[in-house]
Formats: sequence, C-alpha cells, structure tokens
Amino acid sequence: MSYRNDSDSVELGECTRNPGYKDADGDGPAARDNISASDSEEKRDSIGVKRLSDARDEYTQIKPYAGMPKELLVLYSSKARYRVPREILFWLTVCCTLVLVAVTIAVIALSPKCLSWWQASPVYQIYPRSFKDSDGDGVGDLKGIREKLDHFEYLNIKSIWISPFYRSPMKDFGYDVEDFRDIDPLFGTMKDFEDLLAAMHSKGLKLIMDFIPNHTSDLHRWFNLSRTRDPHYEDYYVWTDCKPDGPKPNNWVSIFGNSSWTYDEVRGQCYLHQFLKEQPDLNFRNPDVIKEMIDIIHFWLEKGVDGFRMDAVKHMLEAPHMRDEPQVDPNKPPELVTTEWDLHSDYTTSQVGLHDILREFRAQMDIYSQEPGRYRFMVTESYDYEEVYKTMMYYGTRLEKEGDFPFNFYLLDLPQNTSGVWAKHLVHLWMGNMPKGKWPNWVVGNHDRTRISSSAGRLYVRAINMLLLTLPGTATTYYGEEIGMENINVTASQIQDPAGKYNTSASRDPQRSPLQWNADTNAGFNEKTNLTWLPLHPDYETVNVEAQMKDDGSVLAQYRFLNTLRQSELPLNRGWFCYVHADANVFSYIRELDGLKRAFLIVVNFGKESAVTDLSSVRELPDELKVLISTTIANDGKVFPKSRIQTEVGEGLVIQYSTNTLFNPNHPEECYISEKACYLETIDILYKC
Ligand code: GLC
Ligand code: MG
Repeated sequence: MSYRNDSDSVELGECTRNPGYKDADGDGPAARDNISASDSEEKRDSIGVKRLSDARDEYTQIKPYAGMPKELLVLYSSKARYRVPREILFWLTVCCTLVLVAVTIAVIALSPKCLSWWQASPVYQIYPRSFKDSDGDGVGDLKGIREKLDHFEYLNIKSIWISPFYRSPMKDFGYDVEDFRDIDPLFGTMKDFEDLLAAMHSKGLKLIMDFIPNHTSDLHRWFNLSRTRDPHYEDYYVWTDCKPDGPKPNNWVSIFGNSSWTYDEVRGQCYLHQFLKEQPDLNFRNPDVIKEMIDIIHFWLEKGVDGFRMDAVKHMLEAPHMRDEPQVDPNKPPELVTTEWDLHSDYTTSQVGLHDILREFRAQMDIYSQEPGRYRFMVTESYDYEEVYKTMMYYGTRLEKEGDFPFNFYLLDLPQNTSGVWAKHLVHLWMGNMPKGKWPNWVVGNHDRTRISSSAGRLYVRAINMLLLTLPGTATTYYGEEIGMENINVTASQIQDPAGKYNTSASRDPQRSPLQWNADTNAGFNEKTNLTWLPLHPDYETVNVEAQMKDDGSVLAQYRFLNTLRQSELPLNRGWFCYVHADANVFSYIRELDGLKRAFLIVVNFGKESAVTDLSSVRELPDELKVLISTTIANDGKVFPKSRIQTEVGEGLVIQYSTNTLFNPNHPEECYISEKACYLETIDILYKC
C-alpha cells in the first residue's frame, strides 16, 4: 500500500484501486517504485499514473458532505489525519481494557474477604418470653420485640437470635415444638412474625431463628401418627420394646434427669427422649425425617430468615445397638445412675453420621445464600466440656462446610476461678483448638446458664463485656448482659422451668426474668397490666436501660462504646490477636493489623487484687500508654508508663497506641488471625498478604 504525505488530499490505497488496473508496461506498482528520476516524466504519462493523478485530482477537491458515497468516505477515512488518531484510539482502548482486566483480577485476587454480617456484629439473644410484653398477658411477644428494635440501633447490634416462638405446649418453653410452621398464639401470629422480620430488615437487622432438630413435642402430629403406627410415620421416632412396669430398655438418662425412656400406652412400646418425656427424640436414621427437617428449613428461609441456631445437635443420633453406656463410676449401683454426669454418653451423643446431616442442612442454607448480602448463617449448640475437639468438628472441614461456628461456651467457666491465668486458659482452649482460618466466638450467658454477673459477681461485669468485645470473633450477648442484669431469686413455689421441677437447683428461671427497660411498673416490660411471668429483679429501679442511657459510665454506655469501637477499628474487628501477659490477676493482649500503625493493648484484671503490670519487656509497646477507655470512667485518658500499668479488681483498660514495630512478626507462636489482611495506608485499602 502506498501513502502520500500530503495530508490534504485523499490517498489511494489497495482498497480503492481498480482491481483491473495494471501498469501499461505490465510491471505493476512494484516496477513503478523502481522508476528512476530521469525517466519519471515519461512514465508519469503512462495510463496507470494518469489514472492515479486523475483520481487524486478528482477526490482532493471534494469537501466531505452528508450522504457521501461509501467509496469516498473510505477514501477520506484513510487519510492520516483520520487514520492515525483512530489507530491510537484503538490501541488505547485495547490497552485500557487489558489494564482494567488486570487490575480487576489483581483486586479480586488481593482483596481479603469482607466480614460477613454475622462476623461484624455481636449476636444478641432474645428470650421472647422475657423481652417485651406488648399485650399485657405477662409474657413477652413478637410485637413487643418489634416495639423495641431501636435498642439494637442504639447499641449498634445487627444480629438478633430469638429463642423459639413456634407453636408449642410450652413444657420446655418453646423447645417442645408442636408445629414447626406455626407461631404460638402466646407470641403472636404469622403476620406478626412477617411484620417483625420486615421491620428488622428495613433497619438492617438480621433475624436468626432457633431450630430444634433433635425432638418435637409429644403433641406434634408426627408423634401421634407414629404411636398409632401409621406406616409412613412409624419410624419417625426412636421406639423399642419394653414392658409398662418392667425394666427400661437400657441405662440411658435424660439431660433433665432419670431414664430417657418412657412407655407409651398407645403403641405399647418405649420411646426415647433425651430431654423431657414430652420431647420425644426424632429418628434421624430415617431419611424421611431428614427430608421433613430440610423442608422446614426451606419454609423459613423462603420467608426470609437470616440464619438458624441449631439446638442440642449432639443428641440427634443414637447408637442403633442401644447398649448400656459405661458408667463414670463403675461401682455406682445402677439404680443411682440418674444424671448425665453418671454416664459417658458414648452412645447417645456425637454419633458417626451426625456431621453429614448437619452438612446437608448447611448445603440447603447455601442455596439461599447466593443473593448478595443474603448469606444465611448457621450456629450449632453443643456442650462438649473437656472434649473441645468434638465441638470443633461443627466448623466442618476445608472441603465441606458446616456451621459458621459452634457456640463457644468455655467462658461460662470464668467464674470458677477469676484470675488472669484462668481467663487466658479459657480463651486459649478455643484459640488453640480452632481449625486454622475459622472464626472464633464467645458466649458468657444464655437462657440455660446462670447469668455471669451472678456467677462471677457484679464487680466483673464490665471487664467481661470488655473481654467479649475486644477478643477476635463474634460475641454473643444474652439479653440484659448489656446492662449487667443479674439472676433473680425464685422460690420453690414460683418455679416455672420444668427442669427446675425435676431438680430445684437446675431451674433456669433465675436467668430468664423480664428485661429491665426503665424504673416504671414492671420495669417497662409490661405497661398494660401487673403481670410478669417471672418476678422482676428488685434492682430494676437502678439497673435499667433508660437510666443507663443517661449515664456515660454505665455498663450500657461502655458496651455501646466498645461495640462501636470494635466495628470501626480494623485491628479489633479483623486483626491479629496476641497474648502479651497473664498472671494471677491480669490478662493482657494486643490487637493489631499489618500495615496499620494504630494498635490496641487490652489489660483486664480478673483477679482478686489490684495490680501493677510491668510490660517493659514488650519492646513493641511505646513507653507511655494512654487509656482510651477504662471500665472505671475516671481512668479514661490516664497515661501509664508501660512498666506500671495499674488496674483495680474487675477493671479493664483499652489502650490505643501508635507503633512502627508490630508484635506478631516477632511472636508468631503467641498470635492468631482468621484471615490475614494488610493495610496500605497511602491508598487506604486492605489487601491479602
Ligand atoms: C437446648 C436449649 C434448652 C432446651 C434443650 C432441649 O439445650 O438451649 O433450653 O431445654 O435444648 O430442647
Ligand atoms: Mg404477651
């Protein structure tokens, strides 16, 4: 192709040349290129060159006009002034696209995973009977919860777990489900539930439901069909032969005490119940039962619930051979074996196959987790005590997902020995056994356990909340812990809990008293009548939400501050956690993030004496440490030399400091992180590192 330098006239390229054109002498354009200067005049007269100049003359005179024929347009577009910018533009676009693709791939590859909603906020447990009673019957309800959603906005809490509100005869206050697809009238209607969920979602709150796979109520339709031997339902529960007054099928005992077998007159056999006799265990060896439970999971996920807390999962399968379990004390007379502590529950808990069922539940939940921002969360409940490795199995494996986390109940043992070393030991039980890359969590109370403020003592309440909100992972807060509510005293005649009716000391009523909203009648729990299903704690006139909202030094104000701090500070919400110190009184740790100069030192005195802690050997810490928040408000802003950090009994300090030398690189064995991320200060981003 030949080009002219004259940019004003149109060039002739291959595409415009007459295909029949040939040089007169038959040499064609190549020969023309060889024309010497001396014979150029002569050659210019040749037909071919004439045509060339004719065309040039013809076309260079034409100004572009609308409706130009294609050939002319092509001639114009081949001009350097059009062609060169066009080519530059073309290559620029190609380059930019490639750069964009490369940057996108790099960003995707380098970005650490964002924290999901269940990681970013504490989980707040509502015991619905006790949260807020809207209709004045003395029992809390769904409308009551809806009335109080502002409480969560105030606290900056996004995840709410509500204990069961299914239709139930309330033998175990809702953990005995009569219909998994219905709401108990005591709590409201399905419409109330839908309204509550919609109101929660519009405020950005997530609703976690309780899901109770192990058992149903004995009033459940399935149990009736099973005891009457309906062919489809015959094996929905765990049945075995026994005589009405004869010996029990084996020595298995219920969690609430005594044999876990009850004779059923209708069917003429015994059925298994690992909890109350009104809570027959489902038979998860029957695939139809698994299918039923999956359908129920779908039912609620389709309604839009954001997750499930799976109840009592370790009890879901039993050994089919039904042999006696080994006694803890082999010499104990068998008739005295009546509690779970008397037996090694080798055949009634944590059986092979259990995790397959839970992983199937998880897989079903994942189907509903695809939409952006709609991740469905799953947490399992299993008390495995000294067998922490059993609990860790609920995290699933690298290849198969299970729960997002199993509840970590080990901090419930804190009151057994309030000391810094003990606190570290309990924290380390989890951190040291959790599979790599998983997300930790911390529980200090629930509807089954004595309130921590009563078991540890009021003195430690703030320090415990500080621990919860500054450790890595998700904190669970049982309603009332945010204001430091304590157990109530319940006299024998006031007992409501069936477990307490078996054994007064096992009653769970004391930790289930109504939430103390204000100093009015019934603490604002029930504003309509004088009824409350359990007595209020007498301290409600001073220990209540309203009063504590007005007091900057209150348990509530500190909870709110720490929770907000945690969510806004990268080192606290996803950074390294490093042990720094533990002694008879003090437990201390660092939260930091690679690339970020701002880090936090937490010093908590769980002991029985005031303490002066010397951290001068920790060279990564600056010499002077300024308290950002103390559980004793008067100490906010105090400055300590790092060799003399003072704390009173039950006092906790969050110290914010600036450093160029992080602690974790020098002490890898003292530090943990779920997913490493680094901060790039210059462009304010996080990246995988
Ligand atoms: C769980 C619940 C408890 C209930 C039991 C039986 O442990 O937390 O309250 O009694 O399961 O469903
Ligand atoms: Mg009510």
